Amino acid sequence: MDYSIESLSLDQLETDCIIVGVYKNQQLSPSAEVVDDKAHQLIHNLIERGDIKGKNSETLLISVVPDSCIQRVLLVGLGDKEKFNLKLYRKALLAAVKAIKNTQIKSVCCTLAEIELEGCDYQWRCRQIIEIFDDALYQFIETKSITPPPIVLSKLQITVAEKNKTQAKAGLTQGLAIANAVSLTKHLADLPGNICTPTFLAEQATKMADKFSSMGIEVLDEADLDSLKMNSFLAVSRGSYQPAKLICLNYQGGSSHSKPIIFVGKGLTFDAGGISLKSGAGMDEMKYDMCGGAAVIGVLQAAAQMKLPLNIIGLIPASENMPDANANKPGDILTSMSGKTIEVLNTDAEGRLILCDTLTYAEKFNPEIVIDLATLTGACLVALGRIPSGLLGNDDELCDEIIAASKTACDSVWRLPLWEEYQDQLKSNFADMANIGGRDAGTITAACFLSRFAEDFRWAHLDIAGTAWRTGVNKGATGRPVPLLCQYLINRVNA
Ligand code: BES
Ligand code: MN
Ligand code: ZN
Repeated sequence: MDYSIESLSLDQLETDCIIVGVYKNQQLSPSAEVVDDKAHQLIHNLIERGDIKGKNSETLLISVVPDSCIQRVLLVGLGDKEKFNLKLYRKALLAAVKAIKNTQIKSVCCTLAEIELEGCDYQWRCRQIIEIFDDALYQFIETKSITPPPIVLSKLQITVAEKNKTQAKAGLTQGLAIANAVSLTKHLADLPGNICTPTFLAEQATKMADKFSSMGIEVLDEADLDSLKMNSFLAVSRGSYQPAKLICLNYQGGSSHSKPIIFVGKGLTFDAGGISLKSGAGMDEMKYDMCGGAAVIGVLQAAAQMKLPLNIIGLIPASENMPDANANKPGDILTSMSGKTIEVLNTDAEGRLILCDTLTYAEKFNPEIVIDLATLTGACLVALGRIPSGLLGNDDELCDEIIAASKTACDSVWRLPLWEEYQDQLKSNFADMANIGGRDAGTITAACFLSRFAEDFRWAHLDIAGTAWRTGVNKGATGRPVPLLCQYLINRVNA
């Protein structure tokens, strides 16, 4: 897709379709008014006839506009003008792309950046237009020999008045970086486990890093992990034919003495459960157990593309979790890199086992903050469903900053308590801790486990088990929480 910002009048535009907004009660967006004037009150007549009522996400494609240079007009319902908000803005945009996606329209001109909305500016609105178009036009066809007809839409112009162009262009830059990052994340996530192995993930991270002189990468192999005494991480990988990798990305956009922000992403390229084997239903979806890792690769790419003046490190422990004669067994006791011992009561609680050593490793970089993202617990789906990601952490200020960023990015989170009382559930008779805490509060006890390896820095944990992919007929990766984390980074730069 080719995205651009234009400040031409409607007569000068060459486009297959112009997108304008219609509120309830016959109110038109400013550009809809202009189109209506030029087209002899066509829009008003259609509203009069009842063809469009202005309900949010309603669409009407006008394919012929008599006596006009305009080829087509897409009317998009915005809803009640008084009740309009960020979520409804995004919903209306999504409806617009869906109305165009399967038509013969090659180029569109979107005028909806002009729609006024409390708490956001041209930059935010332009960014959202690009993020939503790009997300909706994503197709995963790499593993199909019979491919669906290609999408013909290839050009999107966003129109703004000359005086708003600077802001709009800043939004374009951010929107492109975030959209590319989301797309990369989704692509890596949608790849099956037999293609996207730990080695493959490391190669893709290397390809990404090689595009930027500001980015370095180091991939640690099992021998390196062994010398670092990452026994907990290695125990998970031991039952797998595929060797584990620890992918370390390093983006240097800030001054050499500023402390790094570290993202840690769970990169389980397939989670069969190990000896505590999962049941068959939906097991294919465990190829998505590397979504945290994929999102870290995406966020680092976005940061480099936006040239953010920050130092950011991405750490991705990548492994499979398989049953095998050599696999980790229930009852096994592991000595983690930190020296703390862990009794493995369920080999399917493997995410925390690879993350704990990675958190210990993160300490050596003297981080400003550490945020980990992981498809960690099915319990998170029970608690929160598929709407927000779970948020837990040992620092209120950091959690508040993440919540603020999630609101702006419309990539929601909900904080759960990480109270001391829950730590008791991890007691073990034989080791310093067990790797599971029983049925109750599974998302919290998983975070409690991680917190024991994050004592020396400000840390937050995102459980993305419910948000990283969609299940059912629209099965596919979402790219979340890339928009949230990019917003968090942008906010840090602006602070
Ligand atoms: N990757 C899973 C968590 C998961 C399950 C995410 C389903 C999304 C959908 C994780 O490794 C896991 O298996 N967790 C166990 C933990 C349990 C054994 C304490 C779970 O959630 O069942
Ligand atoms: Mn598991
Ligand atoms: Zn897992």
